[in-house]
Amino acid sequence: MTFPQGETDASPLASGRAPGKIILFGEHAVVYGRPAIAAPVFRLQAEAVVYPDPEGVCRVEALDIGQQVMVATAGEDDPFARLVRLVCTALDRPLPPWRMVIRSEIPVASGLGSGAAVATAMARALLAAFGVEWSAAAVSALVYEVEKLHHGTPSGIDNTVIAYGRPVWFVRGQPPMPFAVGAALDLLIGDTGIASPTRLAVADVRRGWEADPSRFEALFDRIAAIVHEARTALAEGDRPRLGALMDANQEALAALGVSSPELERLCAAARAAGAWGAKLSGGGRGGNMIALVDPDRREPVTAALLAAGAHRVVHTTLTPTAQ
Ligand code: PMV
Repeated sequence: MTFPQGETDASPLASGRAPGKIILFGEHAVVYGRPAIAAPVFRLQAEAVVYPDPEGVCRVEALDIGQQVMVATAGEDDPFARLVRLVCTALDRPLPPWRMVIRSEIPVASGLGSGAAVATAMARALLAAFGVEWSAAAVSALVYEVEKLHHGTPSGIDNTVIAYGRPVWFVRGQPPMPFAVGAALDLLIGDTGIASPTRLAVADVRRGWEADPSRFEALFDRIAAIVHEARTALAEGDRPRLGALMDANQEALAALGVSSPELERLCAAARAAGAWGAKLSGGGRGGNMIALVDPDRREPVTAALLAAGAHRVVHTTLTPTAQ
């Protein structure tokens, strides 16, 4: 393989970036029409850079995962090729003779929206290289089509929060709504280091729902009530209440069967070290958890998470907004 050479003498034609994301409340139930609250994580970014291709072909190089994709010959199920083809079809252009180089700081299959962030960065880079500007809604809709390859039945929350780049109140099939945040909120994101494809967790929840619909519907309703209460607590900047709601959401997620011993261990360690509350974020089983902390508990909770086996801890802040 004549790959990878990330750097090239050619000047880039365009580039695009997109953040990772966390789900604060409501994952899984959101697939079944309940609301969820999510926020972008700008500390973790995916980037796509478009260069002229030295051999005049259309290719994607994902350096972090050592993958090279020739778009013309890639299978229908390849997410990189799917994204490029969707953009070209929408713009009525042939595949361009471009080399797209992807880099991402967002771990894959870990609940941080890596697939949607990479696709959004690619869409932005490609559109810029074609000299076209799209709305966040149009980029989000395109990325949703790629998300189907990762997730099977995605709710659309990942592409929405990432393409809009702001915290959202999300209900499947509806435009995202902003919401008020009454105080700066510090969150720590702890990585179990266990890759867990979202589609498997989502498929298991579906099997459970099919086997015992009334139990699962009741759990989804319980989560929806938590999400509604969280909206008020966020507007009031009420950390103790938010922490308790995170713990309650985690209990409901565990009852759905998407927690794991590693996630439980990290959540317990964060609480014991002074976090207001903690829960898994995203698909679950592995991936990441989040903990709400006061600024002066950041260091001890980070240390406790690392001591409990977290592979990495990232800090992010939800900044106050009026709406
Ligand atoms: O991509 P993840 O792992 O953050 O999961 C997205 C959230 C789910 O509710 C589990 C799935 C979905 O499509 O909403």
